[in-house]
Amino acid sequence: MCGIVGYIGFREAYPIVIKGLKRLEYRGYDSAGVMLFDGNDLKVSKTKGKVSDLEEKSKEISQSGTIGMGHTRWATHGVPNDINSHPHLSNSENLAIIHNGIIENYEPLKKELIKRGYVFKSDTDTEVLVNLIEEVKKKENLKLGKAVQVALNQVIGAYAICVFDKQKPDEIVVARLGSPLAIGVGKDEFFIASDASPFIEYTSNAIYLEDEEMAIVRLHKPLKIRKIKDDTIVDPYIQELQMNLEQIEKGGYDHFMLKEIYEQPNVIKDTYRGRLLANEGIIKMAGIEDNLEKFLNADRILIVACGTSWHAGLVAEYIIEEFTRIPVEVEYASEFRYRNPIINKNDIVIAISQSGETADTLAAIKLAKENGAFVFGVCNVVGSSISRETHAGAYTHAGPEIGVASTKAFTTQITVLTMIALRLAKAKGTLSNSDFHRHLQELEIIPEKVQEALEMTNEVAKTIAAKFKDSQNCLYLGRGYNFPVALEGALKLKEISYIHAEGYPAAEMKHGPIALIDEQMPVVVIAPKQGHYDKVVSNIQEIKSRSGKIIAIVTKGDTQVRDLADYVIEIPDTSDALSPLLTTIPLQLLSYHIAVMRDCNVDQPRNLAKSVTVE
Ligand code: F6R
Repeated sequence: MCGIVGYIGFREAYPIVIKGLKRLEYRGYDSAGVMLFDGNDLKVSKTKGKVSDLEEKSKEISQSGTIGMGHTRWATHGVPNDINSHPHLSNSENLAIIHNGIIENYEPLKKELIKRGYVFKSDTDTEVLVNLIEEVKKKENLKLGKAVQVALNQVIGAYAICVFDKQKPDEIVVARLGSPLAIGVGKDEFFIASDASPFIEYTSNAIYLEDEEMAIVRLHKPLKIRKIKDDTIVDPYIQELQMNLEQIEKGGYDHFMLKEIYEQPNVIKDTYRGRLLANEGIIKMAGIEDNLEKFLNADRILIVACGTSWHAGLVAEYIIEEFTRIPVEVEYASEFRYRNPIINKNDIVIAISQSGETADTLAAIKLAKENGAFVFGVCNVVGSSISRETHAGAYTHAGPEIGVASTKAFTTQITVLTMIALRLAKAKGTLSNSDFHRHLQELEIIPEKVQEALEMTNEVAKTIAAKFKDSQNCLYLGRGYNFPVALEGALKLKEISYIHAEGYPAAEMKHGPIALIDEQMPVVVIAPKQGHYDKVVSNIQEIKSRSGKIIAIVTKGDTQVRDLADYVIEIPDTSDALSPLLTTIPLQLLSYHIAVMRDCNVDQPRNLAKSVTVE
C-alpha cells in the first residue's frame, strides 16, 4: 500500500512533505522517510515507526530544500525497520526513489545486478528498482526519464514511483502501474502524491496518471506524460478537485473514525441528493439510466468486493433479489480473480470499493471485462482506478474516509445499492407502486433516523463497552438483511480492538458455534422488530439457556427481547430492507468505544492499511 508525496517548486519542501505524509498515513504506517535536496546535497532521513517518529529523527538533518519526497510504508518485502524504509538510494547515491507497490520479479533482477557489482543494503524490491534504473542509465547513457522508462519495461508488478537524480535536480520522474498517483499543478510548482489530500490547500488542479503512464515533472516546463510501453505522448487532463481541507481534518472529534460515524446522516443525504425524488416517485442515477436496458436484460448480477465493501454487497444481494428478482451472487474479489469463474455476456458485474484502488477488486474487474461482462462500479473516491476501469458507475459521495475501519463508506454503499435496486424494480415492475413509494419515502427519512440512532445509542454503547472491553471473544448474530451486518460488526470489533469476533447467521448457531457459548461469551444479537423477529427471539433463548451474555440491538419500545437480554441497545424503527443502515450504527460505536478503552490506535490499527493496493 504505502503513501508517497513529492514536491518541486519554490517553497520549503519539508513541511509540505511531512504534512502530506500525515494525511496519507492511513495508507500504511509502519515506517516513514524523507529526502530533501537543497541545491547541493541530497539528504535522507528514515525510520521505523510513524511520521511523528520521522519528524523526531529528521531533526538530525538540515531540513531546507525546495525539492523533496516522502514515504509512509506498509511493509511487503522486508520487515519494517530503518533500512527497509523509503526513500532508497542507488549505489552511486545519485538517485533516490519512493515506491508504492510490489516488484514481483525483483529476485532475478537483483541477482543480475549483484553479478554486475551492485550491493544491496535493504531487503526491499524498491532498492532493486532504483539500481536497475541506475544501471540502465549508465549502460545506455540515458537521461533519467528514458532510463526509468527502459527499466520499468523490464519490471513485472505494480508501482507508483517518484525518482530523483541529484545530477539533474530540476525534475522528478513519476510513473504508475496499479498504484495511484496524482500530480497537483500549481503556479511554478508541482505536488505529487498517492491522493490529492497532501496538496489541496495549494492547488485544486490535479492530474491523475493512468496505468502505464509516466511523467517528467520539471520546473518551469509544461508537464509531459508518456506511455511507458511505447513512448506515445498523452495529453494531460487536469481535473478540478472537489475535496476541501475541512473534510480531511478531525473537526473536534478525537478520532477520524468517530467523526466519520457521526457524518453518516449527512453523507447518506449527499449520496441520494439529486438522485432520489421521493415525492415525485423518481430515482435517477446517470450510470443506471444510460445502461438501463443492460440491467433489465441481465441474467445475473455478480458483485465483487473485499472486506466491508463485500458486506455491503451481501446486503445488496438481499435487496436486489427481493426487489427486482434478478439473481445476485456476491464474491470476494480475491477468490473470483483466481478461480476461473463463469462469466457470461449477459452478466453484470458490480464492483464495490471505497478507495477504488483495491488490487483484488481491480483484478476481478479486468477479468470480468475480458470475459465480456458489463462492469458497474460503486466507488467513493472520485477519479480512482476502479471508477476509471469500469464501464459505468455511481459514486457514493461519502467524502474522504480516513479512519482505516470503514464506516460511512458501508452505509453510503448500501444507500447507492438500494437506489439501484429500487430503480430496477420500478423499470421491471417487480415492486408494487405502493411498496415502491413506501421504500422511497423511508429512504428519504433514513438520515434523520441515523441521526436519532447515533443519539440513542452512543452512551449505552459506551456503558456496554466498559463491561466487555476485556473479553477475548465475541459473537455477532443476525438474520436476513442483518446477517451481513453481523459480519460487519464482528469485522469492526476485531480490526480495531484486536478482540476475536465472528459474525454468523443466527440460525447457524446450532450447527456448531453454539458450543462456544458460556458465561464468558458476549453475543451481540441484531433483533429489530421487522424481519425474522420471532426466529431471532428463539435464537436468543438458546443462547440464554447456555448462559451467554446477550447484547441485543432492538427496535425502540421492544419489551420481549429486553426481558431476555443482559443489555439492550434501542434504535429507531424502519423497514426490514433499510434496517442495516440503523443496526450498524450501535455496532460501529460499540467497537469504537471498546478500542478506545483498550488504548488501541483506532484510526490506524496494527498491520492494516486503508487502501489495499497489493494482492
Ligand atoms: C474494513 C475495511 C476493509 C475494506 C477493504 C476493501 O473496515 O476497511 O475491509 O473494506 O479493504 O476496501 P475498498 O472498499 O477500498 O475496496
